[in-house]
Amino acid sequence: FVFFYLLAETYGDVFSLRMGQVWMVVLNRFDVLKEALVNQGDSLVDRPDSPLQQEISHGLGVIFSNGNLWKQQRRFALSTLRYFGFGKKSLEPIILDEFRHCAKEIDGFQGKPFAPHLIINNVVSNIICSLVFGHRFEYSNEKFKKLMAWFEQSLQIEASVWSQLYNSFPLLMKCLPGPHQTVKQIWRDTKDFVRAELKDHKKNWDASDPRDYIDCYLSEIEKTKGQADSSFDEENLIMCVIDLFVAGSETTSTTLRWAFLYMAKYPEIQEKVQAEIDRMIGQSRQLSMEDRAKLPYTDAVLHEIQRIGNIAPLSLPHITSKEMQLAGYTIQKGITIIPNLTSVLFDKNEWETPYTFNPGHFLDKEGKFVKRAAFIPFSAGKRLCLGENLAKMELFLFFTSFMQHFTFAMPAGKKPILDFRFGVTLAPNKYEICATSR
Ligand code: HEM
Repeated sequence: FVFFYLLAETYGDVFSLRMGQVWMVVLNRFDVLKEALVNQGDSLVDRPDSPLQQEISHGLGVIFSNGNLWKQQRRFALSTLRYFGFGKKSLEPIILDEFRHCAKEIDGFQGKPFAPHLIINNVVSNIICSLVFGHRFEYSNEKFKKLMAWFEQSLQIEASVWSQLYNSFPLLMKCLPGPHQTVKQIWRDTKDFVRAELKDHKKNWDASDPRDYIDCYLSEIEKTKGQADSSFDEENLIMCVIDLFVAGSETTSTTLRWAFLYMAKYPEIQEKVQAEIDRMIGQSRQLSMEDRAKLPYTDAVLHEIQRIGNIAPLSLPHITSKEMQLAGYTIQKGITIIPNLTSVLFDKNEWETPYTFNPGHFLDKEGKFVKRAAFIPFSAGKRLCLGENLAKMELFLFFTSFMQHFTFAMPAGKKPILDFRFGVTLAPNKYEICATSR
């Protein structure tokens, strides 16, 4: 993505390049992305075909589906997330309860160095488990450990050169051994895992009292039975559930791992966050979403972590479903489009100090929180992140709870290194950190 950034400096905000067999157009900067994804969103609503994804998802689910199927699945997922996220059955108490489990785990290290990667993955994935399965898992549960290991392994392989090879030469790769075959096996196992949960759900399913996403989906299957254009069936249910894990776990977990590192790197900012929480909330009660407005500095720090963390630097690819005119160029139908979010989150015309961690980007002169249009880590338009509101709730409740209970610092003699690796997300390299109880 740094490469794309340099190309934009030379060739302008819209340029094309060939990656393997595919011509792509890379879009840069806020005005261009807004024009393309929002104003002309109808032309960019589809995803390009990717042979490996096709092999895994068969065009089902939300992330890589298209057309009427995508529209139906997305609409259903959004309304169900609204119901469980913020409606009658809010996930807020579940997130706070998960934090208590996590805090116990971290307390166990007694301020000694530990690697947060796995713990945070467990915590965040358990929120998706609660949403879709209606229950969490103990971190030591063998089934859960297996599921977490599958996700980790498959994300690693999908972000590797093997998946690019597969997408460039699918017919050949199908016959050859290699990690791409392991991914396919992992997905079969993961689908079986969800299938077993689904079987349990059907045993005591009560349509009048949905416990979770699967229950709501079962009702939708019943409701739409017999409708010729309905895409609601059990195979799609399984794929949608997996999509929520894939899109909702690694993203939120990566952001929290950046948060710990930035707090360790800037102890004076961490202290200011803690002081604001102590002053406005105190140490004795748990935080709630209603507290957000009382914590402008903390909110600004969290936004800045997301801006500079830039965990989805190139968003996800789109494809033009018809010819479009953009910034003086004609882009033909069927061209893969890469929205370069980095070019917006680090644009020197949008941010005072784009390469410096500066919560002031989100504060006015009186210290009040200000929204910034160029803050688009969740992308924009019709394919805008489906879990944006859930992610914001998780990030706020987890981050503030961590700050209320712990102080993060690097192990003695070690400096926080903000190095990253670009896999499915742009994530910090694995590190150890100390969390001292406050
Ligand atoms: C798509 C970012 C958390 C579910 C996306 C996209 C981005 C993104 C950039 C691509 C949008 C596009 O194609 O234009 C993030 C970030 C997160 C986060 C930064 C957390 C910090 C979540 C969570 C969930 C979720 C918690 C669900 C539980 C999805 C889904 C899509 C998506 C299903 C595909 C939407 C579609 O194709 O219609 N996300 N995401 N995300 N996200 Fe997120």
